[in-house]
Amino acid sequence: MRDFSASKAYFERAAKVIPGGIYGSKSPGFLVPGRYPYYLSRGKGSRIFDVDGNEFIDYLCGYGSQIVGYGNPAVDGPAFEQARKGDLLNQPHPAMVELAERLVALVEGMNWAVFVKNGTDATTLATSIARADTGKQIIIAADGAYHGAANWCSTNVFPVFTQAEQRDLRFFPYNDIAALEACFREERGKIACLILTPYHHPTYKPQQLPTPEFLQAAERLCRAEGAWFIVDDIRANFRLDVRGSHVYFGAHPDLVAMGKALANGYPISVLMGSEKLRKTASSFFITGTYWMSAVPMIAALATLDEMERMGGTARLARLGGMLREGLEKLGREAGFGARVSGPPAIPYLTFDEDPDLYLNQRFCAAMADRGVFMHPHHNWFMSLAHTEDDIAQTLEAARGAFQELRPLPHAY
Ligand SMILES: Cc1ncc(COP(=O)(O)O)c(C=O)c1O
Repeated sequence: MRDFSASKAYFERAAKVIPGGIYGSKSPGFLVPGRYPYYLSRGKGSRIFDVDGNEFIDYLCGYGSQIVGYGNPAVDGPAFEQARKGDLLNQPHPAMVELAERLVALVEGMNWAVFVKNGTDATTLATSIARADTGKQIIIAADGAYHGAANWCSTNVFPVFTQAEQRDLRFFPYNDIAALEACFREERGKIACLILTPYHHPTYKPQQLPTPEFLQAAERLCRAEGAWFIVDDIRANFRLDVRGSHVYFGAHPDLVAMGKALANGYPISVLMGSEKLRKTASSFFITGTYWMSAVPMIAALATLDEMERMGGTARLARLGGMLREGLEKLGREAGFGARVSGPPAIPYLTFDEDPDLYLNQRFCAAMADRGVFMHPHHNWFMSLAHTEDDIAQTLEAARGAFQELRPLPHAY
């Protein structure tokens, strides 16, 4: 096991001055104490380094934000140059126009772009614009889908918020056409929008791809109701198809929210929309002190170029496919029902015999011991900075981790 004493010391200090020490218990160190660092000091390419000097091949990629690698000079170069000239000025930098033009040309079906900071800003704005445009209140969303940490959508808040702010939310199981039809039937005439992630990535569960019939039904029901169809692409954008994950799955949304990988970790997200919603969007009061910041916009432009140079989505899928095949094979050989779900570029391993994820926690902790950072409760991300060598090292570590987990106890 690795030495995390400096990390632990920081955590003890943090617990006195920051509620919980780390927001939202985001560290896998809360799940498997003593086996993960709490604090990281730097990253380079596919690697992260903690405050104790431990190095890991990283498959969380800054919760998806790193797509061309930590500290990529092709992104940081122009971003740092603008930082020296001035980042947040009174009026937007021309990069805002250039980025909007680039995204509108790239993302299929979208005619305008509004830049915000967090993914939550973008999904909140999307549902607000849909409500303003229709004059209706009801939002339909899938059970277990994460659309951000605002009271209207977060499932982790106190019931007092759920009752008040989620009164007009209706949930149905992802991919369940009959349940979705029932929601639309029961709320007919009152529905502002349907918000879906392009594929289902609920926390604690295997990932689920949409069926074509489900997406067609979603579009048909929205059209018949006059409700807007929102795709929340915050987690997946640019990893499946740079034109938007809706293109990858063959969907036709009216609004698309993107974030995370948009600027390789620089803070920016975007809401994009179709022509039909331009008027409502332009009459909407939207602002934030830091939303005009130039550096992330310049970083986003550079990220798009760098992604292409590094091999784009085809390379991500190939590397993710190698990881998936290797993990499932090694898991099977060790006697486990190991299954990697989701698209290859955003993989997540679970075990058939492990509904509570205890085995997954032990597996990921054993991987951390071997210098590979994987989150047991959250899907992973491939980055273009990962190499074939990284995958080979990861699979070698996995061979040891699967062996360490044996013999398999009766129940988890
Ligand atoms: C699908 C989805 N929507 C929205 C969000 C919220 O984004 P942010 O954390 O940037 O507010 C996330 C973050 O994980 C997400 O995965």
